[in-house]
Amino acid sequence: MENTVPTVPLDLDTDEQFLKDPWGVWDRIRKEYGIFRAEPGTPAGESVWVCTRDQVIRDGYALGAEYFSNAILFPYRPPAERQLGLVEMDPPLHPKLRKAMAPHFSPRVVETRRDRMHEIAREVIAQFIDRGECEFVNDFAKPYVAAVFLEYLGVPMTEVEQMVGWAYDAVHLTNDEDPDGSRRGAAMGHVRTLMLGIADERRAEPQDDLTTYMLKIAADTQLSDADFAGTLLVLFFGGLDTTAGSISFAARHFAENPADRVAATQDSESVARATEEVLRAFGILNATKLVVKDVDFHGCPMKKGDRIVFSTSSAGRDEEIYDDAAEFRVDRDSNRHIAFGLGPHRCIGAHFARAELQVFIEEWHKFIPEYSIVDPDAIHSHGGSVMGLNQLNLRWT
Ligand code: HEM
Repeated sequence: MENTVPTVPLDLDTDEQFLKDPWGVWDRIRKEYGIFRAEPGTPAGESVWVCTRDQVIRDGYALGAEYFSNAILFPYRPPAERQLGLVEMDPPLHPKLRKAMAPHFSPRVVETRRDRMHEIAREVIAQFIDRGECEFVNDFAKPYVAAVFLEYLGVPMTEVEQMVGWAYDAVHLTNDEDPDGSRRGAAMGHVRTLMLGIADERRAEPQDDLTTYMLKIAADTQLSDADFAGTLLVLFFGGLDTTAGSISFAARHFAENPADRVAATQDSESVARATEEVLRAFGILNATKLVVKDVDFHGCPMKKGDRIVFSTSSAGRDEEIYDDAAEFRVDRDSNRHIAFGLGPHRCIGAHFARAELQVFIEEWHKFIPEYSIVDPDAIHSHGGSVMGLNQLNLRWT
């Protein structure tokens, strides 16, 4: 039995080919395996299983927390005390907190912030448009997304660069770059201090922002101090890191495919469809779960303590689900992607993310309709749980 288990040498954090062309790697593996054991496993020797096909991932989400707990978000990190609140919780705590938070992420709430998103996008573009070039990730994607979501969270927009740096270190440093985890720990510590400081200020003087609402939610749901801090942390990281990754992949695609940016920007309907294509075709999340009960899942003998990764980024390219899955098609008929995950942990920020992507597509192309990549070889990216680009140089006239 053991030797029939498909094993593939793939480290999602560091594999060079994967960092260069993640979807090319997924396409090759997914054709052969809907699920495989990645080598190496965790530093402590547990197996890391990776699900690539849409249906296998749906089956995994359906098994739920009885087998696959959310207790750890990263494929290769040593287990730690729950650091990231909401996302690392299981029942009975998770549904209680999630229900209380959901109204603050509803489509209605997001719509009240949409005009401000447009304003912020224009302000950020104005800072570099006359230069005729920019490094898209750090000049646009990160500051734009940071300003939109941190404003809602109530984080003052000073030292954004430093905050973006902390978010990167906490989520993306690999075990090779940070063998003892001290840099990740320090970054988490900085964000925790920042967020708890803001929470103290809001306790004394409430504002109309998410940190103020979270204080009431924490009291109503009797959240521990650690889980309150962890939930503020995951909101900070979720708000800062994820959408910037999606927007960067979208910008690279549009820079390389002028016809697609024209198709995407015809009207609000095409913008919305293009946004779903970005989410499907350039999915960024490889959601990790902790196996908490031995189980034979799709023929793989999983042991308690193993990790299992649901690659929503691979699922979006599944040829069994989508015609011409590798093609970006604004006129795609059916697009039931699972880029935001499924089940109780489905992305709570999905409506925010969609709106941020839509506003990016609209505003960027209004001001900079024609652009190209300066040095394709300089593009580099990060993998792991949340994929994204680190550098993308663009030029326009
Ligand atoms: C394109 C952007 C985004 C993508 C693709 C994405 C994807 C995901 C996915 C796949 C999950 C489920 C993980 C799992 O199975 O455990 C998730 C959860 C989550 N996301 Fe997002 N996300 C995005 C943007 C955002 C934004 C803007 C926020 C802002 C707050 C956010 C906050 C969260 C939180 C808090 C959770 C945990 C929800 C829970 O555990 O109940 N995400 N996201």
